[in-house]
Amino acid sequence: MMELAEEKFVLSDPVKKEIDRWIEKYPPDQKKSAIVKALLLAQEQNGGWLSDVAMNAVADYLDVPHIVAYEAATFYDMYNLKPIGKNKISVCTNVPCMLRGSDEIIDCLKKRLQINVGETTKDGLFTIKEVECMAACAAAPMCQINDKKYHEHLTPEKMLGLIDRLEQEAKTNAK
Ligand code: FES
Repeated sequence: MMELAEEKFVLSDPVKKEIDRWIEKYPPDQKKSAIVKALLLAQEQNGGWLSDVAMNAVADYLDVPHIVAYEAATFYDMYNLKPIGKNKISVCTNVPCMLRGSDEIIDCLKKRLQINVGETTKDGLFTIKEVECMAACAAAPMCQINDKKYHEHLTPEKMLGLIDRLEQEAKTNAK
């Protein structure tokens, strides 16, 4: 994964190629339909977050006004509009998860990591994010790590165990 300074962001050739593949899925006058995937690709290229420059680059590539990229990036939870930690913990706080204790999950995370929702730990290991329903209500409360793996039927104990494990993994990988 390539990390670029904000002011120097230019879509890489592999990313452009992948965006082109998505553009082809839509009618020629509907290029903007590829915006969701294109922003995800730009985010990955930019080290996990979307700067204004990266969003503009995507909009320019799709030939749409910059506002189209901003609208999509601020609407969906999977975009990060500032740098994030190595582990993004997205906790669903929508009604079914809230009724099953997502507040306790958030509280135990805030206490353990000494940060608030939307913040990143000083060591850059964790970011806490609150998200809307992730379609796993039957297993509430739940969270997702790094936009991939779901962790369901959470309790504060399970959540803290998961943090311990991720911390341990980071230490092992640093050796
Ligand atoms: S409300 Fe949390 S997954 Fe649906």
